Amino acid sequence: MSKTYRIAVIPGDGTGPEVVAEGLKSLKAAAAIEGFNLELSTYDLGGDRYLKTGEILPPGVLDELRGFHSILLGAIGHPDVKPGILEKGLLLEMRFQLDQYINLRPVVLYPGVETPLKDKGPADIDFVVVRENTEGLYTGGGGFLRKGTPHEVAIQESINTRMGVERCIRFAFDLCRRRNKGKKLTLCGKTNVLTFAFDLWERVFYEVAKAYPDIETDYAHVDATSMWMIKNPEWFDVIVTDNLFGDIITDIGAIIQGGLGIAAGGNINPAGVSMFEPIGGSAPKYTGQNMINPLACIGAVQLMLDHLGEVSAAGRIENALKKIVANDVRNLAAGKMGRSTSDMGDLAVGYIQSQG
Ligand code: IPM
Ligand code: MN
Repeated sequence: MSKTYRIAVIPGDGTGPEVVAEGLKSLKAAAAIEGFNLELSTYDLGGDRYLKTGEILPPGVLDELRGFHSILLGAIGHPDVKPGILEKGLLLEMRFQLDQYINLRPVVLYPGVETPLKDKGPADIDFVVVRENTEGLYTGGGGFLRKGTPHEVAIQESINTRMGVERCIRFAFDLCRRRNKGKKLTLCGKTNVLTFAFDLWERVFYEVAKAYPDIETDYAHVDATSMWMIKNPEWFDVIVTDNLFGDIITDIGAIIQGGLGIAAGGNINPAGVSMFEPIGGSAPKYTGQNMINPLACIGAVQLMLDHLGEVSAAGRIENALKKIVANDVRNLAAGKMGRSTSDMGDLAVGYIQSQG
């Protein structure tokens, strides 16, 4: 009996449905060749549903999501919904409630892709950011005092638990060992100012490091990390950091690897259900134009297959991505590819099918 994967699909907002459609084409093509089955269940969640019914994450959906092998997410964010409502009510709620405590964001420049970095190429841009995904400034801790008055106070707290920091750091060390590149793990923090939060991070980092004598450890402040990702990206192998710093530096990562058209990430719960997504967002102005680049979503499918242990299927998809950027497109930005969204998806399927 061949294996069957139950996958929840959340196309979401804006261009999410368009890129997810292409991601699924690649997923199905890889499954057919590698001989596993898929059971896909689509969930209508996002801004349109919220505007129509007021529902964001209806009761019961989270429990259903827990029963899948994996989740593929398109994008969350709607121009007619106040910022924060869908992001917190849906995207962050899923990350938190499903305890997807790692946000894994590879930064890889494939040959043929233009990077804005002068004199840097694929040999220089190949690292992974391990972003803590359930704590920090994202937890919603804090509040207002005297809101709307001249004496207003706004407090936003960064929550860092020993458990949360430690499991994230351990994941990063394990990943660094498996990657077997430079075997170097860099902690990105701000120990010179955030003397509580990053005191904890730093202590845990060096304590956990004792169990990984084969891994070189390094520390960089987040401002310096941002500079070096541009000046010397080749210095990095694996970077581990908190939620907000990880959010910010992975946008730098995305742009140096060719842009949001190709950047993918995974929200990982190593013991539960994980969720994979293109990191670019809903790009409302391109919605329905068949112009958005689906490679990031196809890359998200690759990360999903890799996570599910379908390494050969994941490899097929990665090779297809590499072939497309080497042979068929130079510029990966929406509208500049010289190809439509669906053409890109078809190209991927062709390459997936034509490999040995
Ligand atoms: C991301 C996004 C989200 C984040 C937003 C949409 C809440 O920017 O996945 O990087 O900040 O985590
Ligand atoms: Mn972000």
